[in-house]
Amino acid sequence: MSVLRGHLLGLEPLSPTQILALLDLAEEAAAGRLDPRSLEGRVVANVFYEPSTRTRTSFELAARRLGARVVNFDPERSSVQKGESLIDTALTLEAMGTDAIVLRHPCSGAGQLVARHVRCSVVNAGDGMHEHPTQGLLDLLTVRQAFGRIAGLRVVVVGDVLHSRVARSAAWGFSKLGAEVVLCGPPTLVPRQLEQAGVRVCHRLEEALEGADVVMALRVQVERQAAGFLPSAGEYHRLYAVTPERLRLAKPGALFMHPGPMNLGVEVTPEVAYGARSLVLRQVANGVAVRMAVLYDLLAQQRAAAEVRPVERTELALAGRV
Ligand code: CP
Repeated sequence: MSVLRGHLLGLEPLSPTQILALLDLAEEAAAGRLDPRSLEGRVVANVFYEPSTRTRTSFELAARRLGARVVNFDPERSSVQKGESLIDTALTLEAMGTDAIVLRHPCSGAGQLVARHVRCSVVNAGDGMHEHPTQGLLDLLTVRQAFGRIAGLRVVVVGDVLHSRVARSAAWGFSKLGAEVVLCGPPTLVPRQLEQAGVRVCHRLEEALEGADVVMALRVQVERQAAGFLPSAGEYHRLYAVTPERLRLAKPGALFMHPGPMNLGVEVTPEVAYGARSLVLRQVANGVAVRMAVLYDLLAQQRAAAEVRPVERTELALAGRV
């Protein structure tokens, strides 16, 4: 049976049981135990209104590894340039036989909007400042593989939390699975009100790092500097960069993560980013397995359920009950 009910729009609505089931399915995918023909005949459309290296490529690889066909829709070279709306684009792709729309969009809630108008599955591949659920799942999978568990770990997320969909999905995912989440950064980028969501807020990185098992740096969105959210890149580096010296303040076995793309020399030094304690490339590799799991769950497992329904209805009709 399918874990997700039609769409994957965020980790906030998922239960710990659903998240764990998706992580287990991703382990199956990573071990090559999903049938490579399970999505034969299915069409996955990558619809990216923002640039992407990791998410778009890994969704494409994931879909192809399960036998699906992939359409890479490019808004820059489409009728979006003539004023076509997001909903019209989605309905058009669906009318051509698309089974899943993988959507990245600068507006928070874009995935929910599309999901209300189409019958095919919608996967949120990052919407504005809201969520990036498959990034959250691959982060969880990477940590579970590294430590053998998630519950009881202390995970520090440092950077522009306010504008980060990665931070939001990480906070929901790690908290739901029993980790302690500490959000760190300048007060303009990590407001105290976030504590209402059950996480700890800390404005001094040295303090936040005490007892940390995992240190996740976020990309510094340099465009925020002009809006006054951020000190200069140099000042940010001095106060919040993850350096080898700062990483030593965490637990002895602490590991480093970053969703990418990284600004080397700003939020992290190259020694940490590519050092022995970095999980960055493991995160990238796990992205393919997680996206295989999500597509498999939405399109292969759901199809099995959908095929049963008409038979059941016919049987009930014959029995005079509908
Ligand atoms: N982590 C992430 O979403 O990277 P891309 O923007 O390259 O997809």
